[in-house]
Order: sequence, then C-alpha cells, then structure tokens
Amino acid sequence: MAFFVLLFLQRVVKDVISPIVFEAAYSLGEHVVDKKEEKALPPLKPILRWKKGEKIAQRNQRIETWHKTNCRSDDCAADLKLQGKLFLSSFDDKTPYLALGAIKNISLNVSVSNNGDDAYNTNVFFNFSSELFFIKMWQKEEKGISCELLEPDFLKCSVGFPFMRSKSKYHFSIIFDTSHLSGEEEDLEFIVTAQSGNLERSDSLHDNKLLLAVPLMHEVDTTVMGAVSPTSFVYGDSIDASKFLQLEDEVCLFQPLNFTFQVLNTGPSHLPGSIVHILIPSRISATGAEVFHILEIMVGQDGGNCTFQRSPDLCFIPKEKESIFHTIFAFFRKSGRKVVDCDRPGRPCLIITCFLSSLAKEETRNIDIYMLLNTEILK
Ligand SMILES: *[C@@H]1O[C@H](CO)[C@@H](O)[C@H](O)[C@H]1NC(C)=O
Ligand SMILES: *[C@@H]1O[C@H](CO)[C@@H](O)[C@H](O)[C@H]1NC(C)=O
Ligand SMILES: *[C@@H]1O[C@H](CO)[C@@H](O)[C@H](O)[C@H]1NC(C)=O
Ligand SMILES: *[C@@H]1O[C@H](CO)[C@@H](O)[C@H](O)[C@H]1NC(C)=O
Ligand SMILES: *[C@@H]1O[C@H](CO)[C@@H](O)[C@H](O)[C@H]1NC(C)=O
Repeated sequence: MAFFVLLFLQRVVKDVISPIVFEAAYSLGEHVVDKKEEKALPPLKPILRWKKGEKIAQRNQRIETWHKTNCRSDDCAADLKLQGKLFLSSFDDKTPYLALGAIKNISLNVSVSNNGDDAYNTNVFFNFSSELFFIKMWQKEEKGISCELLEPDFLKCSVGFPFMRSKSKYHFSIIFDTSHLSGEEEDLEFIVTAQSGNLERSDSLHDNKLLLAVPLMHEVDTTVMGAVSPTSFVYGDSIDASKFLQLEDEVCLFQPLNFTFQVLNTGPSHLPGSIVHILIPSRISATGAEVFHILEIMVGQDGGNCTFQRSPDLCFIPKEKESIFHTIFAFFRKSGRKVVDCDRPGRPCLIITCFLSSLAKEETRNIDIYMLLNTEILK
C-alpha cells in the first residue's frame, strides 16, 4: 500500500525550525479476488491491525524531507562569513585609538554574507564591555535585521528572518555609547559571532567569528600655573624686625614665603594620576647654606601628597660671615642681578615631588607650599 501527499508551502512561512506535522489516515480499499477455482478455500481477506482507541494514522515529523528540495548541497550547509570594522565618531586614521572622554560613541560596521545554502534563523551575536551602552542598530536601507539586547553586554541581531538567502549579504552598524568608559581596560574589545540553524561545515567556520579591538587612551592637556607671596623681599640690617618671623627655640629671623601652584587638566580625558616635580633654587652658591626651608606642603581636596628633603638645620648662621658676604657680593656685583634657577644641571635645588590623584576634565588642584626664607645668611 502506498499513498501520496502533496504539500503546498506558502512563500512566507513563519515557523521553519519546528517540524511541519501532518497526518495521513488510511483504510482498506475494496478487496477483489479472482474466482477461478470454485473448489478452493474462500480467499483470505486482508485486515488492518489497529489498537483499540487509536487512530489509523501516521505522523510525519521529518521537515528535512521537504525543504531539502531548496538545497544545492547534499547536507544543506550554510556558509556564513563576517567582516567588520570599528569607526570612532570623530574618525581619523592618524589616531588609531579611542581617547577617553573625547569620543562619545563608536560604530561597529558589520557585513554578513552567506555563500552556502539558505541559512535559517541566522543571528549575529555581539559580546562587548559592560561599560558600553548599546544605542541602536543602523542600516542604510531598512532590510530584515532586528536586534535585541539579551544581557547588558550581549546583543543578538537576527538577519533576514526566517532565512538568509544563499549568496546574500547584509550590511549594518551597531552604535555604542562610549562616554562611560573608565579606562581600566587597555583595549576595548568586541567579539562578533554569526550562527544559523543550518549545519555549517567545520572548514568554513573560521570566518564566523570576528574579534575587533581598539586601544583606549587617556588624552590630556595639563597646565601648571603658579603664584608667589610676597612677590619680593628686601634684606639687610635696616629692615624693620616686625616683618620677620621668629620661630620658637630658634634664634634666626625668617621671612615667610608662600608658593601656590595650580595644576589644570583641560582634557579631553580625565587624568588618572600625575606627578609634579617642583624645583626651587636652595642656595646662592654651590657650597653655601640653604636659603629656603619648607614648613609645610598642602595639596587641595586631599588630592595627593608631596615629598621633599627637610633641612636638618633650620637656623643656619654662617660662621665665616666674611667669606659668605664676599661670595654674595661677588655674585651681585657683576650685573647687580643674580638669577638663581634650576634649569641647568648641577645647580643646588630643593626638589619637591607631588603625587596627585585623579583629575577630571577641567578640574584644578592646588599645591600650597609654606616656606621660610633665612635672611640671616643674606645679611
Ligand atoms: C556620535 O557622536 C557624534 C559626535 O561625537 C554625534 O554627532 C553623533 O550624533 C553621535 N551618534 C549617535 C548615534 O549618538
Ligand atoms: C559605518 O556606520 C556608520 C553609521 O554608524 C555610517 O555612517 C558609515 O557610513 C559606515 N561606514 C562604512 C564604511 O560602511
Ligand atoms: C557572550 O556573552 C554571553 C552572555 O553573557 C555568553 O554566554 C557567551 O559565552 C559570550 N560569548 C563569548 C564569545 O564571549
Ligand atoms: C602664607 O599662607 C599662610 C596660610 O594661608 C598665611 O597665614 C600667611 O599669611 C601667608 N603668608 C604670606 C606671606 O602670604
Ligand atoms: C599619596 O598620594 C597618592 C596619590 O593620591 C596616594 O596613592 C598615596 O596613598 C598617598 N600617600 C600617602 C602616604 O598619603
């Protein structure tokens, strides 16, 4: 016994992966036996064996039987291929990195093609940093792609549902918000994977996965400004003693001197940490006594700390006044002016090193230095 079923599939079939279920009922037809030999036993009649209460029916669950007719290969394999590139919103070939804070979004342009048989239920998956936010999917022309965020860092885009035709290619872009990147990771990485419900031969799987990365950089422009108070001082015996400061247990007279340095980050990124070196000329002559003594250094908003060498002897009174005076005199006599700087190597200088904590864009941090000037040695 045989039967034949003709099944018509509509052009647009929604449910392609679950099997097409059909039932065929069957029963015995009329049984005709040739009645040549009258004497023989009556002919045997065929019967259908069936269980009580069950239908005489056959269920078919092999959908493959049907859509195989569309396949050009025996195994109906798809052959997906992914290609892609990252585009920074202010894209510039000369800066192949993402400057934190400067770039607000990133576009991942992807193309997926199918060189095999029609690929059912094709999806492109994106794994990305949890510091990124998916903004939208963008296509030049609206064309059979829809995306769904499965996890905050995992996106699924369905391509050409219900199936991606053989020899077809789709282009689309995924746009992410990059404004919340912390910069803790060195690179921003994306893993893109293409997958379909069809079988795909292992030798064609190599181009189903794409790893895209861009280095992350802190790009900053820092400025240091400074002020000093008082801006000038005079020395000598004729100066009113009230202008001076006398410390407890010290015989020397000092003149207070305050320096304020201001570190500004003009961005675009935040400055994760910085070191500021301040050099202050500490002696008039290479062998002379120290002129300046640091009392205290304060960093604003508790945003750092500074280290420096404390002078062991705060109150230095030169024993051989005569020779010191001559040295100073020799310096000042030539031009009436003596520049003490730290630009050239070998000059005696006080070195202050400040470690500053993170500075946001447009944020400033003050470094206040309270110093004493030992005018005794200038006398
Ligand atoms: C991406 O950023 C640029 C400028 O940074 C902006 O002009 C554009 O509108 C942004 N695109 C999206 C989709 O947010
Ligand atoms: C990449 O995608 C953006 C949209 O995010 C689009 O403006 C741009 O033209 C695409 N670039 C290429 C080369 O496809
Ligand atoms: C992508 O993310 C999903 C969900 O977190 C995870 O199951 C999958 O293993 C990830 N894939 C890759 C290639 O990291
Ligand atoms: C230096 O700063 C301290 C603390 O702010 C202040 O009391 C003092 O008057 C300042 N001295 C000068 C010379 O500006
Ligand atoms: C000094 O400042 C740096 C940067 O803010 C910080 O990491 C360090 O712990 C500080 N050290 C001390 C002793 O406060």
